[in-house]
Amino acid sequence: MFLVTGATGSLGRRIVRQLRDQETPVRSFVRLFSDYSELEYRGSEIFIGDLKHDQDLAKATQGVDYIISTHGSGDDTQALDYRANIQLIDLAKENGIKHFVYISVLGVDRGYTDAPVFKAKREVEKYLITSGLNYTILRPSGFANNLLPLAERFRENGIYLLIGDPKNRSSIVSTDDLATIAIASVNLEGAKNQIFPVGGPQILTRGEIPEIFGRIFQKEPIIINPPLFILDGVRSGLGLFNPQLQRSLGTLRTLLANEFFCTPEEISQIEAIYDLKLESLESFISRYLGT
Ligand SMILES: NC(=O)c1ccc[n+]([C@@H]2O[C@H](COP(=O)([O-])OP(=O)(O)OC[C@H]3O[C@@H](n4cnc5c(N)ncnc54)[C@H](OP(=O)(O)O)[C@@H]3O)[C@@H](O)[C@H]2O)c1
Repeated sequence: MFLVTGATGSLGRRIVRQLRDQETPVRSFVRLFSDYSELEYRGSEIFIGDLKHDQDLAKATQGVDYIISTHGSGDDTQALDYRANIQLIDLAKENGIKHFVYISVLGVDRGYTDAPVFKAKREVEKYLITSGLNYTILRPSGFANNLLPLAERFRENGIYLLIGDPKNRSSIVSTDDLATIAIASVNLEGAKNQIFPVGGPQILTRGEIPEIFGRIFQKEPIIINPPLFILDGVRSGLGLFNPQLQRSLGTLRTLLANEFFCTPEEISQIEAIYDLKLESLESFISRYLGT
C-alpha cells in the first residue's frame, strides 16, 4: 500500500492515476473540501484529513508500505513543507515503512535565504537522509503542467506574460514523467538512498517557451515582459499589511530570478536509471491541448 500526500495536487493526482492503472493499492491523503472524486473513482482509498493535524498523519500511515510526499504548502510553509514532512518521516520509521519518496526542488542546496519553501525542503532532505529509512529524494525543476493555463490563454490571444529575464534557463519536466519516476523509485536498487535532479530533456530559455507555444498553435507570440523589480515593488507594498504573504512571495521571486536546469549528464543518468525517455515540453503541451 502506497500513501500519497498532496494526492489532489498536479503531481500527486498523476501518481495516484498511474498507481491505479497498475492496479496498485494506494491511499490518497486529501482534504474534505478538495476534489478527490476522480481518485476515488479510480479505486484509490481515500483518507480525509489535514496534514497539519498529527492525529490524521498517525492514522494515515497505518498499514502503509511506501510513502510518496508530494504535498505543497498553501499558505503555511512551516507547518506543511517542514513539520508535516518531519512528522511523516518519524511515523514512517515507527511503522517500518519500506521506502520514502520525497519531492524536493531543484536548487534546494543553493542556500536561497529569501525562499522559505527551499529552506524547509532542504531541512526535510537532511532529516530524511539521516533517518535510517530507505529513501529517494527527487529535485524537480518546474512542472510542465504549470504552463497549461498559459498555453490555453496563448491559444486564444497569442499573449505570453514573461516576468523577469527571458534568457534565464530552465528544464521544464513533464509532470507525468515525474510521477512515473516517483513510483519506480521504491523498487529500483539504483534509486535507493539517492538524490536526483529531475528535468526535461532540453534546457530552454524562458524566452523560448512562447516560441514553442507559437509553433504548437501557429501564432506569432505577443510577449509582455515586465522586469522583476515590478514584483519587488508589489511585494514591498504587500509586506506593509501582510508579512506572511511577503515571505511566501520570496519563493516565487527566487524561482523567477534564478536558473533551474539539469545538465545533459543528469538527464542521461535519470533516463538510464529509470529506463525511460523524458518527454519534451512541446510534446507535453501538444498531448494535453490536443494539437
Ligand atoms: N509545481 C512545480 O513546478 C514544482 C517544482 C518543483 C517542486 N515542486 C514540489 O512538488 C510537490 C508537488 O507540487 P504540485 O505543484 O503538484 O503541488 P500542488 O498542485 O500545489 O498541490 C498541493 C497539494 O498539497 C495539498 N495540501 C496543501 N495543504 C494541505 C493540508 N493542510 N492537508 C492536506 N493536503 C494539503 C493540496 O490539497 P488541496 O487540493 O486540498 O489544496 C494539494 O493536493 C510540492 O512539494 C512542490 O513544492 C513543485
